[in-house]
Amino acid sequence: MEVIIRPDEQAAAELVAAIIAKELTARPQLVLGLATGATMERVYDELVRRHREEGLDFSLCRTFNLDEYIGLPPDDPRSYRSYMNRQLFSRVNIDLRNTHLPDGMAQDLQAECRRYEELISDCGGIDLQLLGIGRSGHIGFNEPLSALRSRTREKALAPTTIAQNAIYFGGDPAKVPCRAITMGVGTILEAHRCILLATGAAKADIVAKAVEGPITAMVTASVLQLHPRCTVVVDEAAASRLQGTDYYRWIFENEPEWAEFRRSSGRHVLRKPTNVQPRPRRRAGARR
Ligand code: GLP
Repeated sequence: MEVIIRPDEQAAAELVAAIIAKELTARPQLVLGLATGATMERVYDELVRRHREEGLDFSLCRTFNLDEYIGLPPDDPRSYRSYMNRQLFSRVNIDLRNTHLPDGMAQDLQAECRRYEELISDCGGIDLQLLGIGRSGHIGFNEPLSALRSRTREKALAPTTIAQNAIYFGGDPAKVPCRAITMGVGTILEAHRCILLATGAAKADIVAKAVEGPITAMVTASVLQLHPRCTVVVDEAAASRLQGTDYYRWIFENEPEWAEFRRSSGRHVLRKPTNVQPRPRRRAGARR
């Protein structure tokens, strides 16, 4: 696992988009695992910008989302299918037939989970899986005590997750679907490469547990410590509870693999007028 710390959430999102763009350019038929949530919106905006301004081509790309609520039709604006169409698919040249999410309206949910696993397998597996992290420590909707070898299945959402996602349901936790279909932890671990993006002070505690704590089913993101090629990208705020930041910063500044990303990072900073003084660095642990 590597941890890359960027100054703010925009820079973190741009780095993740740059990694995706590099992989997609090298392999146009990339099988891309996608995630939802507010954190990912900047990543999708940056991918859209690269498509429009730099011709980043999604025409052969195939995508698999991590999860979908059970009981929300695809055209419900709160469904993850709607989120993906809105944030990314309708804004780039992807073929919608190549975009996949579990069907949360399926009559036979277990059969749907098996179908989703088979589809991933038929595409040759996921090349690059994008991940967020919930405050419960989940990846996808793999809530605490999810089996670390689990496959795509139905999962009951944890109260923390329902509270976190209530904002999309008029602020009312009772309106949040209480079940979802999610790729399993084992399914995610089979992706060739994983990138977890976390930003903001609210994620600092759970990021520290996932990255530097013990591997435990109580924090399913911690299982990424077992993944042979996992990069965790955080902003300063989300990194504020990590212990090993000197080493993580050294890796990004010195390892050859990151040289091209060091050059391209800070694009948004360069666009600022030159007479603006840089903001003082936030104290570690300070609230945003
Ligand atoms: C949902 C998704 C997760 C995502 C999480 C984080 O619960 N199922 O895959 O990581 O949201 O969301 P946010 O980025 O809004 O914090």
